[in-house]
Amino acid sequence: MQTAKKNAKKNLRAVILNMHQYTAGKSIEEIADKYNLDPSRILKLSSNENVLGSSLKAKIAATLALEKVNIYPDVVSDELSKEIKKTHGLKNIEVVVGNGMDHIFEMLARLFLNNGDETIISIPTFSCYELVTLWAGAKPRLIPLLKNYQMDIGKILSLINKKTKMIFICSPNNPTGNLMKTEDIKKILDSTDKIVFLDEAYAEFAGKSLVKWIEKYPNLIIGRTFSKIYGLAGYRVGYAFIHKNLANYYLNSITPFVVSRPGQAAALAALDDHDFFEKTIRMVEEGKNFYYKELSKANIKHLKSDANFITLDTYPQKASLLANELLERGIIVRECSTFGKGGEYLLRISIGKREHNVKVLEVLRERSIRD
Ligand SMILES: Cc1ncc(COP(=O)(O)O)c(C=O)c1O
Repeated sequence: MQTAKKNAKKNLRAVILNMHQYTAGKSIEEIADKYNLDPSRILKLSSNENVLGSSLKAKIAATLALEKVNIYPDVVSDELSKEIKKTHGLKNIEVVVGNGMDHIFEMLARLFLNNGDETIISIPTFSCYELVTLWAGAKPRLIPLLKNYQMDIGKILSLINKKTKMIFICSPNNPTGNLMKTEDIKKILDSTDKIVFLDEAYAEFAGKSLVKWIEKYPNLIIGRTFSKIYGLAGYRVGYAFIHKNLANYYLNSITPFVVSRPGQAAALAALDDHDFFEKTIRMVEEGKNFYYKELSKANIKHLKSDANFITLDTYPQKASLLANELLERGIIVRECSTFGKGGEYLLRISIGKREHNVKVLEVLRERSIRD
C-alpha cells in the first residue's frame, strides 16, 4: 500500500504535492444532507450567482443549439468574441473567450509564468490567482489590503522586481465588495510593464470598467464573466479584454473548443437581453440598500459593496461561527477564511430576492440580540 502511494507520487511535479483543492461555496445537496433539511427550502447565497436565474432568450438559444450538438463548437468562440467587442466599441483591443474566467487565469499563467517567477496578489481576494501561480511553479507574494480594504500600493510597488511577472487586481474585490481606487491601479500601470490582470467579474454591478485603458496600457488584461450578471455560471463562459499585440499569442497557447456550443449560444443571446440585465441590476441595488438600512439599524458591521453581495465584518468572532448558524437554518453563505489573511472575519452573502434578504436578516437580527 505504502509503495503504491509512493509510486503514485513519483511522477508528479513537486509543486503539485503541496496543492489543495479549490474551496467552492457549499452546494444545496451537501447542506440538505448534513442538516437533514428539505432541499427546496435551502437558500444558496454563497457563490454570487444570479438568483433571478438566467435570461429566457439565453435558455432558448442554448436549447436550439442542442440540434447541432454532434458538431464541435466554434474553436475560439469567434462570433461571441466579435459581438462582445462590438458591444464595447473597442479599437486595438481583442476579446478572448474561456471556459469561465477561471480557465482564462490558467491560460494566462501558461503564457506568462515560469518556475520561480513571482506574482503579486492583494489579500483577502479570490483564491484562484494564488492557485494558478502555484500550479505554474511560481511564487505568490501576498500583500494584505489596508484597513479600508484598498491596496497597499507602496508595498506593491516596492515588491515589483525582476522575478515579478503578473500583478493581480480584483475590482470590485471578492470578498470585500469594494472597487479598488482608480488612482492606485494607474500608479501600478504607470510604474511597470509587467502583466497587470484586472478581474472585473462584478464590474457590471459597479457600473464602472477600465477596459478602455488597455489601449494606453498594452500590459493590462481585463477579465469578465457570464457567471454573475448574466446568470450563466453553469455554462462556464468567461472572457478577457487583451491588447491586439498579445491576443494571437493567447490564441496560439490555449486548448481548443473550450466553450460548448450551447454555452456560446446562451452567452450570445444573453448579451442581447437588456431587460434581464437591468432587472438584475435593480434587484441587487434594492437588495443592497435594504441590507445597509437594516444592518445599520441592528448595529451589525458591514462593508459597502460595489458587487452583487454584501460582506459582514464579524471581528473579533470568526465568520465561520455565524456561517454555521445560518447553514443550520438552511441559508448557505460564505465564510472567507480561504481568501487569505483577514478573510476569516468576513462573511459574504450574495444579494437575493427581497424575501431571501428578509430571511437572512431575521437570523442576523436574532443572533445580534443574543450577542
Ligand atoms: C472575482 C472573481 N473572478 C472570477 C470568478 C470566476 O468566474 P467564472 O465563473 O467565469 O470562472 C469569480 C467567481 O466567483 C470571482 O468571484
